[in-house]
Amino acid sequence: MEKRHNFGSKLGIILAAAGSAVGLGNVWRFPTETGAHGGAAFILIYILCVIVLGIPVMLSEFVIGRSTHANTIDAYRRLAPRSAWIIQGFLGVFAAFIILSYYSVVAGWTMKYLVTAVAGGVTQIADPAAYYTAFTVHPWWPVVFTAIVLIVTHIIVVRGVQNGIERFSKLLMPLLFIIITVLVVCSMLMPGAKEGLQFLLRPDFSKITADTLLSALGQAFFSLSLAMGCLCTYASYFRDDANLTRTAVSVVSIDTLVAIMCGFIIFPAVFSVQEITPDAGPGLVFITLPSVFQMAFEGAPILGYIFALLFYLLLIVAAITSTISLHETITAFLHEHGLSRRAAACIVTTLCLVLGIFCSLSFGPMKDFKPFFGLGFFDAFDFLSAKIIMPVGGIIISLFVGWRLDKKLVRDQVTNGGKLRAPLFGFYRFVIRWVAPTLITLVLLNELGVFTHTS
Ligand code: PHE
Repeated sequence: MEKRHNFGSKLGIILAAAGSAVGLGNVWRFPTETGAHGGAAFILIYILCVIVLGIPVMLSEFVIGRSTHANTIDAYRRLAPRSAWIIQGFLGVFAAFIILSYYSVVAGWTMKYLVTAVAGGVTQIADPAAYYTAFTVHPWWPVVFTAIVLIVTHIIVVRGVQNGIERFSKLLMPLLFIIITVLVVCSMLMPGAKEGLQFLLRPDFSKITADTLLSALGQAFFSLSLAMGCLCTYASYFRDDANLTRTAVSVVSIDTLVAIMCGFIIFPAVFSVQEITPDAGPGLVFITLPSVFQMAFEGAPILGYIFALLFYLLLIVAAITSTISLHETITAFLHEHGLSRRAAACIVTTLCLVLGIFCSLSFGPMKDFKPFFGLGFFDAFDFLSAKIIMPVGGIIISLFVGWRLDKKLVRDQVTNGGKLRAPLFGFYRFVIRWVAPTLITLVLLNELGVFTHTS
Protein backbone atom coordinates (compact mmCIF):
# COMPACT_ATOMS: atom_id res chain seq x y z
CA MET A 1 0.00 0.00 0.00
CA GLU A 2 1.24 3.52 -0.74
CA LYS A 3 2.49 5.79 2.06
CA ARG A 4 -0.21 7.41 4.17
CA HIS A 5 -0.47 11.12 3.44
CA ASN A 6 -0.99 13.96 5.88
CA PHE A 7 -2.43 17.41 5.38
CA GLY A 8 0.40 19.70 4.29
CA SER A 9 -0.21 22.83 6.34
CA LYS A 10 -1.89 24.07 9.48
CA LEU A 11 -4.22 26.25 7.48
CA GLY A 12 -5.11 23.23 5.34
CA ILE A 13 -6.02 21.27 8.46
CA ILE A 14 -8.29 23.98 9.77
CA LEU A 15 -9.97 24.68 6.46
CA ALA A 16 -10.59 21.00 5.70
CA ALA A 17 -12.10 20.35 9.13
CA ALA A 18 -14.09 23.58 8.97
CA GLY A 19 -15.23 22.51 5.51
CA SER A 20 -16.66 19.34 6.98
CA ALA A 21 -18.41 21.28 9.71
CA VAL A 22 -19.76 24.13 7.60
CA GLY A 23 -22.57 22.73 5.50
CA LEU A 24 -26.28 22.69 4.88
CA GLY A 25 -26.59 22.54 8.65
CA ASN A 26 -25.30 26.11 8.93
CA VAL A 27 -27.09 27.72 6.04
CA TRP A 28 -30.36 25.91 6.31
CA ARG A 29 -30.86 24.14 9.64
CA PHE A 30 -29.39 26.78 11.95
CA PRO A 31 -31.62 29.66 10.78
CA THR A 32 -34.63 27.33 10.84
CA GLU A 33 -33.91 26.28 14.43
CA THR A 34 -33.19 29.88 15.41
CA GLY A 35 -36.50 30.95 13.89
CA ALA A 36 -38.39 28.19 15.66
CA HIS A 37 -36.83 28.88 19.06
CA GLY A 38 -37.11 32.61 19.34
CA GLY A 39 -34.00 34.13 17.74
CA ALA A 40 -31.30 35.65 19.91
CA ALA A 41 -32.04 33.54 22.99
CA PHE A 42 -31.46 30.38 20.97
CA ILE A 43 -28.20 31.75 19.57
CA LEU A 44 -26.87 32.46 23.05
CA ILE A 45 -27.68 28.96 24.24
CA TYR A 46 -26.17 27.55 21.08
CA ILE A 47 -22.91 29.40 21.65
CA LEU A 48 -22.80 28.07 25.18
CA CYS A 49 -23.32 24.52 23.90
CA VAL A 50 -20.54 24.69 21.34
CA ILE A 51 -18.09 26.06 23.89
CA VAL A 52 -18.91 23.71 26.74
CA LEU A 53 -19.55 20.55 24.74
CA GLY A 54 -18.60 21.10 21.10
CA ILE A 55 -14.94 21.93 21.66
CA PRO A 56 -14.25 19.09 24.16
CA VAL A 57 -15.96 16.42 22.05
CA MET A 58 -14.22 17.63 18.90
CA LEU A 59 -10.90 17.60 20.72
CA SER A 60 -11.60 14.04 21.82
CA GLU A 61 -12.17 12.94 18.24
CA PHE A 62 -8.94 14.65 17.25
CA VAL A 63 -7.11 12.73 19.98
CA ILE A 64 -8.47 9.42 18.73
CA GLY A 65 -7.62 10.13 15.10
CA ARG A 66 -4.24 11.76 15.46
CA SER A 67 -2.87 9.30 18.03
CA THR A 68 -3.46 6.38 15.67
CA HIS A 69 -3.13 7.88 12.18
CA ALA A 70 -5.70 5.34 11.02
CA ASN A 71 -9.21 5.27 9.61
CA THR A 72 -11.88 5.53 12.26
CA ILE A 73 -12.50 1.79 12.70
CA ASP A 74 -8.83 0.87 13.02
CA ALA A 75 -8.31 3.84 15.31
CA TYR A 76 -10.57 2.22 17.94
CA ARG A 77 -9.09 -1.19 17.23
CA ARG A 78 -5.59 0.09 17.92
CA LEU A 79 -6.45 2.09 21.00
CA ALA A 80 -8.55 -0.65 22.59
CA PRO A 81 -7.66 -3.98 20.99
CA ARG A 82 -10.23 -6.75 21.14
CA SER A 83 -12.85 -4.70 22.92
CA ALA A 84 -16.37 -3.56 22.19
CA TRP A 85 -15.28 0.08 21.71
CA ILE A 86 -14.68 -0.70 18.05
CA ILE A 87 -18.44 -0.51 17.65
CA GLN A 88 -18.08 3.27 17.60
CA GLY A 89 -15.74 2.98 14.62
CA PHE A 90 -18.31 0.95 12.73
CA LEU A 91 -21.13 3.26 13.79
CA GLY A 92 -19.15 6.22 12.45
CA VAL A 93 -18.58 4.64 9.05
CA PHE A 94 -22.17 3.43 8.87
CA ALA A 95 -23.49 6.88 9.78
CA ALA A 96 -21.24 8.59 7.26
CA PHE A 97 -22.64 6.24 4.67
CA ILE A 98 -26.28 6.97 5.31
CA ILE A 99 -25.77 10.71 5.86
CA LEU A 100 -23.90 10.94 2.59
CA SER A 101 -26.82 9.20 0.85
CA TYR A 102 -29.53 11.60 1.97
CA TYR A 103 -27.37 14.72 2.28
CA SER A 104 -26.43 14.34 -1.40
CA VAL A 105 -30.10 14.46 -2.30
CA VAL A 106 -30.56 17.87 -0.66
CA ALA A 107 -27.23 19.00 -2.09
CA GLY A 108 -28.63 17.86 -5.45
CA TRP A 109 -31.68 20.10 -5.03
CA THR A 110 -29.28 22.93 -4.28
CA MET A 111 -27.40 22.15 -7.46
CA LYS A 112 -30.67 22.31 -9.39
CA TYR A 113 -31.55 25.68 -7.84
CA LEU A 114 -28.08 26.94 -8.65
CA VAL A 115 -28.52 25.94 -12.29
CA THR A 116 -31.92 27.63 -12.31
CA ALA A 117 -30.40 30.72 -10.70
CA VAL A 118 -27.65 30.89 -13.31
CA ALA A 119 -30.29 30.77 -16.02
CA GLY A 120 -32.08 33.62 -14.27
CA GLY A 121 -35.03 31.43 -13.35
CA VAL A 122 -35.19 31.60 -9.57
CA THR A 123 -36.67 35.07 -9.53
CA GLN A 124 -39.16 34.09 -12.24
CA ILE A 125 -40.76 31.18 -10.39
CA ALA A 126 -44.44 32.00 -10.13
CA ASP A 127 -45.28 29.70 -7.26
CA PRO A 128 -42.14 28.63 -5.36
CA ALA A 129 -43.94 26.03 -3.23
CA ALA A 130 -45.45 24.32 -6.26
CA TYR A 131 -42.12 24.51 -8.09
CA TYR A 132 -40.28 22.92 -5.18
CA THR A 133 -42.82 20.12 -4.85
CA ALA A 134 -42.92 19.46 -8.56
CA PHE A 135 -39.16 19.12 -8.64
CA THR A 136 -38.68 17.00 -5.53
CA VAL A 137 -41.37 14.48 -6.47
CA HIS A 138 -40.05 14.08 -9.99
CA PRO A 139 -38.88 10.48 -10.54
CA TRP A 140 -35.50 11.15 -12.09
CA TRP A 141 -34.43 14.81 -12.22
CA PRO A 142 -33.48 14.95 -8.53
CA VAL A 143 -31.61 11.68 -9.00
CA VAL A 144 -29.57 13.21 -11.81
CA PHE A 145 -28.55 16.10 -9.54
CA THR A 146 -27.78 13.75 -6.64
CA ALA A 147 -25.50 11.83 -8.99
CA ILE A 148 -23.73 15.04 -10.02
CA VAL A 149 -23.04 15.90 -6.38
CA LEU A 150 -21.67 12.42 -5.70
CA ILE A 151 -19.50 12.48 -8.81
CA VAL A 152 -17.99 15.87 -7.96
CA THR A 153 -17.29 14.60 -4.44
CA HIS A 154 -15.81 11.41 -5.87
CA ILE A 155 -13.43 13.27 -8.16
CA ILE A 156 -12.08 15.35 -5.29
CA VAL A 157 -11.71 12.39 -2.92
CA VAL A 158 -9.93 10.24 -5.50
CA ARG A 159 -7.26 12.92 -5.83
CA GLY A 160 -6.21 12.22 -2.27
CA VAL A 161 -5.70 14.02 0.99
CA GLN A 162 -3.37 16.81 -0.12
CA ASN A 163 -4.20 17.18 -3.79
CA GLY A 164 -7.91 16.68 -3.37
CA ILE A 165 -9.35 17.45 0.05
CA GLU A 166 -6.82 20.02 1.20
CA ARG A 167 -6.46 21.82 -2.09
CA PHE A 168 -10.20 22.13 -2.64
CA SER A 169 -10.83 23.19 0.95
CA LYS A 170 -8.27 25.95 0.55
CA LEU A 171 -10.04 27.09 -2.58
CA LEU A 172 -13.66 26.67 -1.53
CA MET A 173 -13.61 27.91 2.05
CA PRO A 174 -12.28 31.41 1.26
CA LEU A 175 -14.79 31.56 -1.61
CA LEU A 176 -17.52 30.68 0.87
CA PHE A 177 -16.43 33.48 3.18
CA ILE A 178 -16.43 36.04 0.42
CA ILE A 179 -19.92 35.04 -0.71
CA ILE A 180 -21.28 35.12 2.83
CA THR A 181 -19.85 38.56 3.46
CA VAL A 182 -21.32 39.97 0.26
CA LEU A 183 -24.70 38.44 1.08
CA VAL A 184 -24.72 39.76 4.65
CA VAL A 185 -24.08 43.26 3.35
CA CYS A 186 -26.81 42.95 0.68
CA SER A 187 -29.25 41.60 3.20
CA MET A 188 -28.62 44.43 5.65
CA LEU A 189 -29.34 46.97 2.95
CA MET A 190 -32.83 45.65 2.34
CA PRO A 191 -35.77 47.74 3.50
CA GLY A 192 -37.12 46.41 6.76
CA ALA A 193 -33.90 44.62 7.60
CA LYS A 194 -33.99 46.23 11.04
CA GLU A 195 -36.74 43.98 12.30
CA GLY A 196 -34.80 40.92 11.29
CA LEU A 197 -31.76 42.23 13.11
CA GLN A 198 -33.77 42.84 16.24
CA PHE A 199 -35.04 39.30 16.12
CA LEU A 200 -31.44 38.10 15.98
CA LEU A 201 -29.96 40.46 18.52
CA ARG A 202 -32.60 40.95 21.20
CA PRO A 203 -32.96 37.81 23.29
CA ASP A 204 -36.38 36.88 24.57
CA PHE A 205 -35.50 34.70 27.52
CA SER A 206 -39.09 33.66 28.07
CA LYS A 207 -38.68 31.50 24.97
CA ILE A 208 -35.98 29.36 26.61
CA THR A 209 -37.18 25.95 27.72
CA ALA A 210 -35.47 22.61 28.22
CA ASP A 211 -36.42 21.88 24.64
CA THR A 212 -34.45 24.94 23.46
CA LEU A 213 -31.35 23.66 25.19
CA LEU A 214 -31.67 20.15 23.82
CA SER A 215 -32.39 21.38 20.30
CA ALA A 216 -29.35 23.66 20.49
CA LEU A 217 -27.21 20.74 21.55
CA GLY A 218 -28.51 18.52 18.76
CA GLN A 219 -27.92 21.30 16.25
CA ALA A 220 -24.39 21.85 17.59
CA PHE A 221 -23.51 18.19 17.11
CA PHE A 222 -24.87 18.09 13.59
CA SER A 223 -23.30 21.35 12.57
CA LEU A 224 -19.89 20.49 13.96
CA SER A 225 -19.93 17.04 12.25
CA LEU A 226 -19.35 15.42 15.61
CA ALA A 227 -19.47 11.71 16.36
CA MET A 228 -19.66 10.58 12.74
CA GLY A 229 -16.11 9.47 12.16
CA CYS A 230 -15.38 12.43 9.87
CA LEU A 231 -13.33 14.52 12.25
CA CYS A 232 -11.57 11.46 13.60
CA THR A 233 -10.63 10.50 10.04
CA TYR A 234 -9.43 14.01 9.19
CA ALA A 235 -7.44 14.13 12.44
CA SER A 236 -5.66 10.97 11.37
CA TYR A 237 -4.10 13.13 8.63
CA PHE A 238 -2.97 15.84 11.06
CA ARG A 239 0.75 16.15 11.50
CA ASP A 240 2.21 15.44 14.92
CA ASP A 241 3.04 19.10 15.48
CA ALA A 242 -0.54 20.30 14.91
CA ASN A 243 -2.04 21.98 17.95
CA LEU A 244 -5.25 20.00 18.52
CA THR A 245 -6.86 22.39 20.96
CA ARG A 246 -6.23 25.41 18.79
CA THR A 247 -7.55 23.55 15.75
CA ALA A 248 -10.74 22.55 17.57
CA VAL A 249 -11.28 26.11 18.78
CA SER A 250 -10.70 27.50 15.27
CA VAL A 251 -13.03 25.02 13.60
CA VAL A 252 -15.79 25.57 16.14
CA SER A 253 -15.39 29.35 15.84
CA ILE A 254 -15.52 29.30 12.04
CA ASP A 255 -18.55 27.03 12.02
CA THR A 256 -20.42 29.14 14.55
CA LEU A 257 -19.49 32.38 12.85
CA VAL A 258 -20.75 31.05 9.51
CA ALA A 259 -24.01 29.86 11.08
CA ILE A 260 -24.66 33.23 12.69
CA MET A 261 -23.73 35.08 9.52
CA CYS A 262 -26.23 32.93 7.64
CA GLY A 263 -28.79 34.10 10.18
CA PHE A 264 -27.78 37.65 9.28
CA ILE A 265 -28.38 36.85 5.63
CA ILE A 266 -31.71 35.13 6.03
CA PHE A 267 -33.59 37.02 8.74
CA PRO A 268 -33.20 40.60 7.54
CA ALA A 269 -34.15 39.38 4.05
CA VAL A 270 -37.15 37.41 5.29
CA PHE A 271 -38.37 40.20 7.53
CA SER A 272 -38.09 42.72 4.75
CA VAL A 273 -40.78 40.73 2.97
CA GLN A 274 -43.39 40.90 5.60
CA GLU A 275 -45.84 38.16 4.94
CA ILE A 276 -43.26 35.43 5.34
CA THR A 277 -42.41 34.01 8.77
CA PRO A 278 -38.88 33.00 9.68
CA ASP A 279 -39.56 29.50 10.99
CA ALA A 280 -40.72 28.13 7.67
CA GLY A 281 -39.01 24.78 8.28
CA PRO A 282 -37.06 22.87 5.67
CA GLY A 283 -38.73 24.79 2.86
CA LEU A 284 -36.90 27.91 4.03
CA VAL A 285 -34.15 27.91 1.46
CA PHE A 286 -36.11 26.41 -1.41
CA ILE A 287 -39.54 28.01 -1.01
CA THR A 288 -39.30 31.03 1.27
CA LEU A 289 -36.11 32.48 -0.13
CA PRO A 290 -37.07 32.42 -3.81
CA SER A 291 -40.13 34.49 -2.85
CA VAL A 292 -37.93 36.81 -0.85
CA PHE A 293 -35.55 37.25 -3.77
CA GLN A 294 -38.47 38.17 -5.99
CA MET A 295 -40.31 40.50 -3.67
CA ALA A 296 -37.37 42.28 -2.12
CA PHE A 297 -35.85 43.14 -5.47
CA GLU A 298 -38.96 43.89 -7.47
CA GLY A 299 -37.55 47.19 -8.63
CA ALA A 300 -34.08 45.86 -9.38
CA PRO A 301 -34.29 42.32 -10.76
CA ILE A 302 -30.59 42.23 -11.53
CA LEU A 303 -29.85 42.43 -7.79
CA GLY A 304 -32.34 39.62 -7.17
CA TYR A 305 -30.52 37.59 -9.81
CA ILE A 306 -27.13 38.14 -8.20
CA PHE A 307 -28.41 37.49 -4.70
CA ALA A 308 -30.07 34.22 -5.70
CA LEU A 309 -27.05 33.07 -7.66
CA LEU A 310 -24.61 33.78 -4.85
CA PHE A 311 -26.88 32.22 -2.28
CA TYR A 312 -27.18 28.86 -4.02
CA LEU A 313 -23.50 28.93 -4.87
CA LEU A 314 -22.80 29.36 -1.17
CA LEU A 315 -25.09 26.50 -0.31
CA ILE A 316 -23.53 24.08 -2.79
CA VAL A 317 -19.96 24.96 -1.81
CA ALA A 318 -20.81 24.42 1.84
CA ALA A 319 -22.50 21.11 1.04
CA ILE A 320 -19.68 19.76 -1.11
CA THR A 321 -16.98 20.38 1.51
CA SER A 322 -19.14 18.31 3.87
CA THR A 323 -19.86 15.48 1.45
CA ILE A 324 -16.11 15.20 0.86
CA SER A 325 -15.52 14.48 4.54
CA LEU A 326 -18.31 11.91 4.68
CA HIS A 327 -17.01 10.19 1.56
CA GLU A 328 -13.43 10.20 2.83
CA THR A 329 -14.44 8.57 6.12
CA ILE A 330 -15.69 5.48 4.28
CA THR A 331 -13.14 5.55 1.49
CA ALA A 332 -10.25 5.70 3.99
CA PHE A 333 -11.51 2.57 5.70
CA LEU A 334 -11.85 0.57 2.49
CA HIS A 335 -8.56 1.92 1.15
CA GLU A 336 -6.68 0.88 4.27
CA HIS A 337 -8.09 -2.60 3.91
CA GLY A 338 -6.45 -3.44 0.66
CA LEU A 339 -8.33 -1.52 -2.04
CA SER A 340 -6.81 1.23 -4.14
CA ARG A 341 -8.14 4.69 -3.34
CA ARG A 342 -9.88 4.78 -6.69
CA ALA A 343 -11.59 1.40 -6.23
CA ALA A 344 -12.59 2.27 -2.66
CA ALA A 345 -14.06 5.60 -3.78
CA CYS A 346 -15.95 3.91 -6.64
CA ILE A 347 -17.61 1.52 -4.25
CA VAL A 348 -18.61 4.33 -1.90
CA THR A 349 -19.97 6.51 -4.70
CA THR A 350 -21.95 3.67 -6.23
CA LEU A 351 -23.48 2.44 -2.98
CA CYS A 352 -24.38 5.95 -1.87
CA LEU A 353 -25.94 6.65 -5.22
CA VAL A 354 -28.11 3.55 -4.93
CA LEU A 355 -29.26 4.55 -1.46
CA GLY A 356 -29.55 8.18 -2.57
CA ILE A 357 -31.95 7.09 -5.31
CA PHE A 358 -34.19 5.49 -2.70
CA CYS A 359 -33.99 8.65 -0.56
CA SER A 360 -34.87 10.80 -3.53
CA LEU A 361 -37.74 8.57 -4.63
CA SER A 362 -39.17 8.66 -1.12
CA PHE A 363 -40.43 12.16 -1.96
CA GLY A 364 -42.17 11.07 -5.14
CA PRO A 365 -42.95 7.66 -6.58
CA MET A 366 -42.10 5.87 -3.31
CA LYS A 367 -43.89 8.33 -1.09
CA ASP A 368 -46.14 5.75 0.46
CA PHE A 369 -43.44 3.15 0.97
CA LYS A 370 -42.54 3.57 4.62
CA PRO A 371 -40.68 0.45 5.70
CA PHE A 372 -38.88 1.92 8.72
CA PHE A 373 -41.40 2.23 11.55
CA GLY A 374 -43.63 4.34 9.37
CA LEU A 375 -40.81 6.42 7.88
CA GLY A 376 -39.65 6.53 4.26
CA PHE A 377 -35.97 6.27 3.30
CA PHE A 378 -35.05 9.94 3.54
CA ASP A 379 -36.73 10.56 6.88
CA ALA A 380 -35.52 7.30 8.34
CA PHE A 381 -31.91 7.99 7.36
CA ASP A 382 -32.10 11.48 8.78
CA PHE A 383 -33.64 10.28 12.01
CA LEU A 384 -31.29 7.36 12.47
CA SER A 385 -28.12 9.34 11.83
CA ALA A 386 -28.81 12.78 13.25
CA LYS A 387 -31.07 11.80 16.11
CA ILE A 388 -29.80 8.39 17.19
CA ILE A 389 -26.28 7.59 16.02
CA MET A 390 -24.96 11.10 16.58
CA PRO A 391 -25.88 11.30 20.28
CA VAL A 392 -25.00 7.65 20.89
CA GLY A 393 -21.64 8.27 19.23
CA GLY A 394 -21.11 11.42 21.29
CA ILE A 395 -21.71 9.46 24.50
CA ILE A 396 -19.38 6.63 23.45
CA ILE A 397 -16.59 9.01 22.38
CA SER A 398 -16.74 10.96 25.63
CA LEU A 399 -16.71 7.80 27.73
CA PHE A 400 -13.92 6.31 25.63
CA VAL A 401 -11.58 9.27 25.90
CA GLY A 402 -12.67 10.17 29.43
CA TRP A 403 -12.58 6.73 31.05
CA ARG A 404 -10.97 4.16 28.79
CA LEU A 405 -7.96 5.92 27.29
CA ASP A 406 -4.88 6.37 29.37
CA LYS A 407 -4.81 9.88 30.80
CA LYS A 408 -1.16 10.24 29.78
CA LEU A 409 -1.92 9.39 26.17
CA VAL A 410 -4.65 12.00 26.07
CA ARG A 411 -2.47 14.62 27.70
CA ASP A 412 0.39 13.83 25.33
CA GLN A 413 -1.89 14.37 22.37
CA VAL A 414 -3.30 17.61 23.70
CA THR A 415 0.13 18.99 24.63
CA ASN A 416 2.11 17.37 21.79
CA GLY A 417 4.21 15.40 24.23
CA GLY A 418 4.57 18.26 26.72
CA LYS A 419 5.52 20.94 24.17
CA LEU A 420 2.28 22.89 24.52
CA ARG A 421 0.67 24.25 27.62
CA ALA A 422 -2.78 22.99 28.47
CA PRO A 423 -4.05 24.95 31.46
CA LEU A 424 -7.62 23.78 30.94
CA PHE A 425 -6.80 20.09 30.68
CA GLY A 426 -8.45 19.30 34.02
CA PHE A 427 -11.62 21.09 32.98
CA TYR A 428 -11.61 19.29 29.64
CA ARG A 429 -11.36 15.92 31.33
CA PHE A 430 -14.11 16.78 33.74
CA VAL A 431 -16.39 17.74 30.86
CA ILE A 432 -15.83 14.61 28.82
CA ARG A 433 -16.03 12.31 31.83
CA TRP A 434 -19.17 13.73 33.40
CA VAL A 435 -20.86 16.64 31.69
CA ALA A 436 -20.83 15.46 28.08
CA PRO A 437 -22.17 11.92 28.68
CA THR A 438 -24.92 13.27 30.93
CA LEU A 439 -26.07 16.09 28.69
CA ILE A 440 -25.88 14.05 25.49
CA THR A 441 -27.92 11.27 27.12
CA LEU A 442 -30.61 13.88 27.77
CA VAL A 443 -30.48 14.92 24.11
CA LEU A 444 -30.91 11.31 23.06
CA LEU A 445 -33.85 10.77 25.40
CA ASN A 446 -35.39 13.99 24.15
CA GLU A 447 -35.02 12.90 20.52
CA LEU A 448 -36.70 9.65 21.43
CA GLY A 449 -39.61 11.62 22.83
CA VAL A 450 -39.12 10.53 26.43
CA PHE A 451 -39.81 14.04 27.73
CA THR A 452 -43.05 15.72 26.90
CA HIS A 453 -42.44 18.89 24.95
CA THR A 454 -43.42 22.12 26.56
CA SER A 455 -43.12 24.34 23.50
N1 PHE B 1 -21.75 19.46 9.61
C1 PHE B 1 -22.39 19.30 8.36
C2 PHE B 1 -23.39 20.46 8.17
O1 PHE B 1 -23.47 21.32 8.97
C3 PHE B 1 -23.12 18.01 8.23
C4 PHE B 1 -22.31 16.82 8.56
C5 PHE B 1 -22.66 16.02 9.62
C6 PHE B 1 -21.18 16.53 7.82
C7 PHE B 1 -21.87 14.94 9.97
C8 PHE B 1 -20.39 15.47 8.17
C9 PHE B 1 -20.75 14.67 9.24
O2 PHE B 1 -24.09 20.49 7.21
